[in-house]
Amino acid sequence: IKRIGVLTSGGDAPGMNAAIRAVVRTAIYHHIEVTGIYRGYEGLIENDLFVMDSRSVSSILTQGGTILKSARCPEFRTKEGRATAYKNLKDANIDALVTIGGDGTFTGAEVFSDEYDIPVMCIPGTIDNDLFGTDYTIGYDTANNTVIEAIDKIRDTAASHSRLFFVEVMGRDSGCIALNAGVAAGAEAILMPEKDTAIDELIQMLEEGMDKNKSSMIVIVAEGEKNGGAYHVAKRVKEKFDFFDTKVSILGHLQRGGSPSSFDRILATRMGYHAVKELLKGNSKSTIGFKGNQIVTTPLHVALHSDVFKLDEELLEISKVMSI
Ligand code: F6P
Repeated sequence: IKRIGVLTSGGDAPGMNAAIRAVVRTAIYHHIEVTGIYRGYEGLIENDLFVMDSRSVSSILTQGGTILKSARCPEFRTKEGRATAYKNLKDANIDALVTIGGDGTFTGAEVFSDEYDIPVMCIPGTIDNDLFGTDYTIGYDTANNTVIEAIDKIRDTAASHSRLFFVEVMGRDSGCIALNAGVAAGAEAILMPEKDTAIDELIQMLEEGMDKNKSSMIVIVAEGEKNGGAYHVAKRVKEKFDFFDTKVSILGHLQRGGSPSSFDRILATRMGYHAVKELLKGNSKSTIGFKGNQIVTTPLHVALHSDVFKLDEELLEISKVMSI
């Protein structure tokens, strides 16, 4: 391998820059050149490439977002789009690719590397923590901290005004952020995609809280849960349980931004370093993961076709015990 291309794709996540930095510096340390690809697969198709050196990634370790910018690219799903992408890679003398992103990014990498003979390594970067083969994705820890800080602030108002708050958090089809933030911020109830909670069941939990003299309550609603989101849940609860002044707060994209936590910086740096080392060892078509405090790799086809949405039943049980 003489030149590695690096891109970020899908939703940005705090720590992506730290991963880019690690890829660039590990490659250069091993005398391999690096080309940055702007806007993920879209930039690859549009030939939006630039040569990087170790100074291209100065001072980005601490920054949220991604200096390479990101996009979701429907054209890469077509054969023609991928053919153009491959031609641009070859013209730029790129002979291996590191992609940083979520399952859409990984799927693109799998199809591309099946079609063309190009080594790829995928680094999991998404706040959702919804990828197989790793205990943590880059950005998840920072997003949790952001969410907890926001809920702590909402708690001040909830307590001062004796209110019931429904706080909607991101995560797409995963309830990881909801469950962890719920435990860390002491929520009274948590609704997640992995576990159906009927509105009547939720009302029962809230009634129990009221019977125990709770004067304010917080319900975390994961955006992907089956009742249709925080506004809908709040409306349906209020129809039968109208003892509190009720408010809805959708945390939205503030969950994706901000300087990465120490955990995400270190995780991203380790993953970026190992992505390059794995390519140098001749490994390809794999994802980098962090399991049991160790960096591991998983074949892309395994990572993409295994079920990741497993509920941490014990943590959910603990959250219930803590909310009495
Ligand atoms: O995958 C990260 C994520 O923030 C999800 O939690 C959310 O569902 C989605 O991206 C939002 O995407 P967009 O920024 O394109 O609206």
